[in-house]
Amino acid sequence: MALEVVGVRILVTGGTGRLGSAVGARLRAAGEEVRVLSRRPGPDVVRGDLRTGRGIDSAVAGMDVVVHCATDYLGREAALARTLVEAARWAGAPHLVYVSIVGVDRVPLGYYRTKRETEELIAASGLPATIQRATQFHGLVRGLLAGASRLPVVPVPRVSFQPVDVRDVANRLADLALAEPAGRAPDFGGPEILTAAELAAAVGEASGRPRRILPVKVPGETFRAYADGGHLTPGHRDGVITFRQYLAGQAGHAS
Ligand SMILES: NC(=O)c1ccc[n+]([C@@H]2O[C@H](COP(=O)([O-])OP(=O)(O)OC[C@H]3O[C@@H](n4cnc5c(N)ncnc54)[C@H](OP(=O)(O)O)[C@@H]3O)[C@@H](O)[C@H]2O)c1
Repeated sequence: MALEVVGVRILVTGGTGRLGSAVGARLRAAGEEVRVLSRRPGPDVVRGDLRTGRGIDSAVAGMDVVVHCATDYLGREAALARTLVEAARWAGAPHLVYVSIVGVDRVPLGYYRTKRETEELIAASGLPATIQRATQFHGLVRGLLAGASRLPVVPVPRVSFQPVDVRDVANRLADLALAEPAGRAPDFGGPEILTAAELAAAVGEASGRPRRILPVKVPGETFRAYADGGHLTPGHRDGVITFRQYLAGQAGHAS
């Protein structure tokens, strides 16, 4: 008797965002059944709001896996996750995959604290879960350094970054989504660790406006944590797309 092969049903929260849209594309390409959660209507979207809880129970119902890429920059990250965890419990405990950031326990940023709190909430939820920390995305690092590139001399902090491409992170998350729950997965980092000066130079060259770079020491405990490499994972240079390759692919794009 032929076996019926049934695809895995996966909800991607934040599936309209930078990372989530890449995760959805990767899972669809693998033949999986993907549902995207968004607060706004759209094609192949199920509407729901993790802040109010509206639509979340029905979005999660029937799912085998939830890849949680939705995020809140105003301090409500854990509240969003709490809503999702409650809905997942009612929906028969699908595998919950959460994406966090390398160094959330080492760099004293408010947003990082909420990510750490959310990791703990998910780990303590009793749900089958996987937590993946990743380093800064190429687009974020480019955004941090591009603004100043219009000045004749570009001041940059004396820190390094290990930027990673969202497509590489999406590949990892898709693999995790289709595997057994792993708890805290090994960190996922970009292929190179470069100083902000080197990265700013690359942004200048890619934009055709090379500028003089001036590394500066920034005071404060947050920058000390960055300068100490709290956000880096030198032992995990997993991504394959370099920052320069990303910039070359962005030529002519606004973001
Ligand atoms: N950026 C980085 O360098 C970096 C590095 C490592 C890890 N991460 C993590 O990667 C994840 C994704 O980041 P990203 O940059 O791809 O995010 P993003 O592009 O800013 O997208 C945020 C997403 O969250 C959704 N969302 C926000 N509030 C919501 C709510 N109340 N209910 C439902 N959905 C909501 C939005 O969906 P709608 O607007 O369609 O509702 C949107 O799709 C985050 O957890 C982030 O911490 C980011």
